Amino acid sequence: MKTENLKHDSAIKHVTGQSVYVNDLAFSGQLVGRVVYSKVASARIKSIDCAKALLVDGVSSILTYKDIPGKNQLGPVIHDEPCLAQDEVTFIGQAIVLIAAENLEAAFKAEKLIQIEFEELESILTLQDAIAKNNLLAPPRCIECGNVEEALQSAPHCISGELETGAQEHWYLETQSALAVPCEGKEMLVHASSQNPAETQAIVAEVLGVSKNEIEVEVRRMGGGFGGKETQGNHVAAWAALLANATRRPVGIQLFRDDDQIITGKRHRFLSKYSIGFDHSGKILAYSVELNSDAGAATDLSRAILERAMLHAENSYFIPNVKIVGKAYKTNLPSNTAFRGFGGPQGMAVIETAIDRIARFLKKDAAEIRKLNFYGTKTRNITPYGETVRNSRLDVMYEKLLVSANYVQRINAVAEFNKQNEFAKRGIALTPIKFGISFTTAFLNQAGALVHIYNDGTVAVNHGGTEMGQGLNTKIHGIASSEFGISPEFIKISSTNTSKVPNSSATAASSGSDLNGMAVKNAIDKLKSRLAEVAANELNVKLAVNSIQSNQIVFVGNEVLSTLFPNIKIAFAELVKLAYLKQVSLSATGFYKTPGIFFDRETGKGNPFLYYAYGMAVSEVQIDTLTGETKLLRTDILHDVGDSLNEEIDIGQIEGGFIQGVGWVTTEEIKWDKSGNQLTHSPDTYKIPTVNDIPAVFNVELLKGYPNEGTIRKSKAVGEPPLMLAFSVWLAIKDAVSAVGNHEFEPQFSLPATAEVVLLSIEEIRKKVLGVGG
Ligand code: MTE
Ligand code: MOS
Repeated sequence: MKTENLKHDSAIKHVTGQSVYVNDLAFSGQLVGRVVYSKVASARIKSIDCAKALLVDGVSSILTYKDIPGKNQLGPVIHDEPCLAQDEVTFIGQAIVLIAAENLEAAFKAEKLIQIEFEELESILTLQDAIAKNNLLAPPRCIECGNVEEALQSAPHCISGELETGAQEHWYLETQSALAVPCEGKEMLVHASSQNPAETQAIVAEVLGVSKNEIEVEVRRMGGGFGGKETQGNHVAAWAALLANATRRPVGIQLFRDDDQIITGKRHRFLSKYSIGFDHSGKILAYSVELNSDAGAATDLSRAILERAMLHAENSYFIPNVKIVGKAYKTNLPSNTAFRGFGGPQGMAVIETAIDRIARFLKKDAAEIRKLNFYGTKTRNITPYGETVRNSRLDVMYEKLLVSANYVQRINAVAEFNKQNEFAKRGIALTPIKFGISFTTAFLNQAGALVHIYNDGTVAVNHGGTEMGQGLNTKIHGIASSEFGISPEFIKISSTNTSKVPNSSATAASSGSDLNGMAVKNAIDKLKSRLAEVAANELNVKLAVNSIQSNQIVFVGNEVLSTLFPNIKIAFAELVKLAYLKQVSLSATGFYKTPGIFFDRETGKGNPFLYYAYGMAVSEVQIDTLTGETKLLRTDILHDVGDSLNEEIDIGQIEGGFIQGVGWVTTEEIKWDKSGNQLTHSPDTYKIPTVNDIPAVFNVELLKGYPNEGTIRKSKAVGEPPLMLAFSVWLAIKDAVSAVGNHEFEPQFSLPATAEVVLLSIEEIRKKVLGVGG
């Protein structure tokens, strides 16, 4: 049976303003919290003087690190991130002082009166500088198979190069926010905008110096997270909780957009170096890559992100000899963090560049080279880390997409257009993705649920996942409805709350519905087996038989019946009432852990993923060769979500993820000045895609007829993978620039390909053309 296809919350609630976010909540006596942060990138703190600020009318409390009752620590994995700066600051945006006041005006006034004396120190602000100084965050890591040095030596051709990929700002519409409410004794309730309520709970408990059972964290929804609230939603929650604890009054913090962009970490920028060996046909024989990431000032999730980058370094391609080295460097910038794709995009960008270069070198179509190197289904299917790629969909998707996107004809049309036009050039590219699903930290692959049936026949479903716009709760709603065989209107998905489901993992790694869907199903299965027993008894009595067993009972269409006598039914609500009267428990917990997942970091081998999600895109762009402006004309996407849990939501995720990726590869550029000040901390200088950037022809299709065995309702995760389909746009731009020189000179490209990058690249090519011609 198909899973109930429900409308996303946003369909009605968001657009009518009914959806509740942290900042919509109000408690009596609530204060506003403000974070005072460092304006210098690296310095020793000589003194902090808050005396004058404390005298400001309306100021309730001002806190420094000295006022933290518990540990001065926010580090989620490694404890290297102070909650409030103590003796030194290591980046612009680092929190130093917290203010609670009756209103923002008073808080601003107080902030101006706080005096902090710094002794500035030398800072590291670029990845190049960090590499030169060998300022490593952790020892380098390596994943290796075959003998890469030998294979590179003996390969008929070898290309080497460097690629820079840029940072990216999350730009969730709801900035970081939290509301902490002190309750009885040491208890604290925190309404958080967090992808990871259990970790928010842990960190709040730690800074307050209380145990976890005193802290309740509730997340109704986020106005977007995109990875930016996987760890860094904890920060505002900890700050609000410290202020609420000090004042004994509720304290809300919602960062202003500029502050949010200055304070929080981004997608890691990378500087990667590669060599790729191949034969005359374009078959890849060896690939050596060094991935260098800018971790920022603290560890945060940088190690896991680097690991995922390494595990996606070969993307969809089988390569017999591979060496992947990963290094994360510390710089004096905010600690970089999770961002949709979690390092995957940075790893894949390098191999996609390398393959594009192979094609240009051999003067062949890049799509053909890609196809030639795809993972096979029976042979050529072992990854560099030793996991077997089962059920590759790459070949079948390639065949289908080539036809639906009319690829071959369009290549010719593009060439024809370029012949006719001097100041406008077009380019086209096809790129695939293969994305590993599961947390690479194996123990995180677990989830819990708590399902109640009330004696009026209605159901409340709780699970440990969080809703950030990706439609997880709508998918879970559909799953619960299908599994219970009752209409969705009888079911509610409650807010995520640490008191209901404990020790949950972050909603991340695209595995929200995989993990929580299974946990919810597990709870529902328990309840159904209890109800089935009551139903079997009741039907036996009704029909005066004793042949009906509980395992023959089915739940369908709001009714419960035996397959032996399908005409005699009990209404679900009636059965629930009966069970209640018979003193049967109508509440159950559910649990799920992903089977067979392991990864040995020392050897770089294992089975880190339960399965892979696949996608493929063809994009066509047009550039203005006088301005460098790019227009995305058309994109065709074919994506593999197994049996979809909710087609509209999946298509929405594919469209949204892809466009977010288009932003990363085109216009979203973060710049800093020489002192480490971000120059792009608001929408007037940081350009995310708008409705204008969506291609006029945008065909998104789901791969039909390929169920994914062993997951909830045979579905596949969808949240992150489509972002990486944007490489098709970036490489189409490169193709268009290449056309300026009639494909005789290869453009060199960094990512993002902003108008500036495109124009400079065109100028380079023009010089070469003139050089040859003259
Ligand atoms: N979609 C929306 N609308 N908003 C978001 O914040 N986050 C993405 C993706 N899709 C996000 C989103 C990221 S980074 C992840 S990991 C997944 O959703 C998380 O949710 P899932 O595991 O339920 O897919
Ligand atoms: Mo997503 S980057 O795993 O939160």
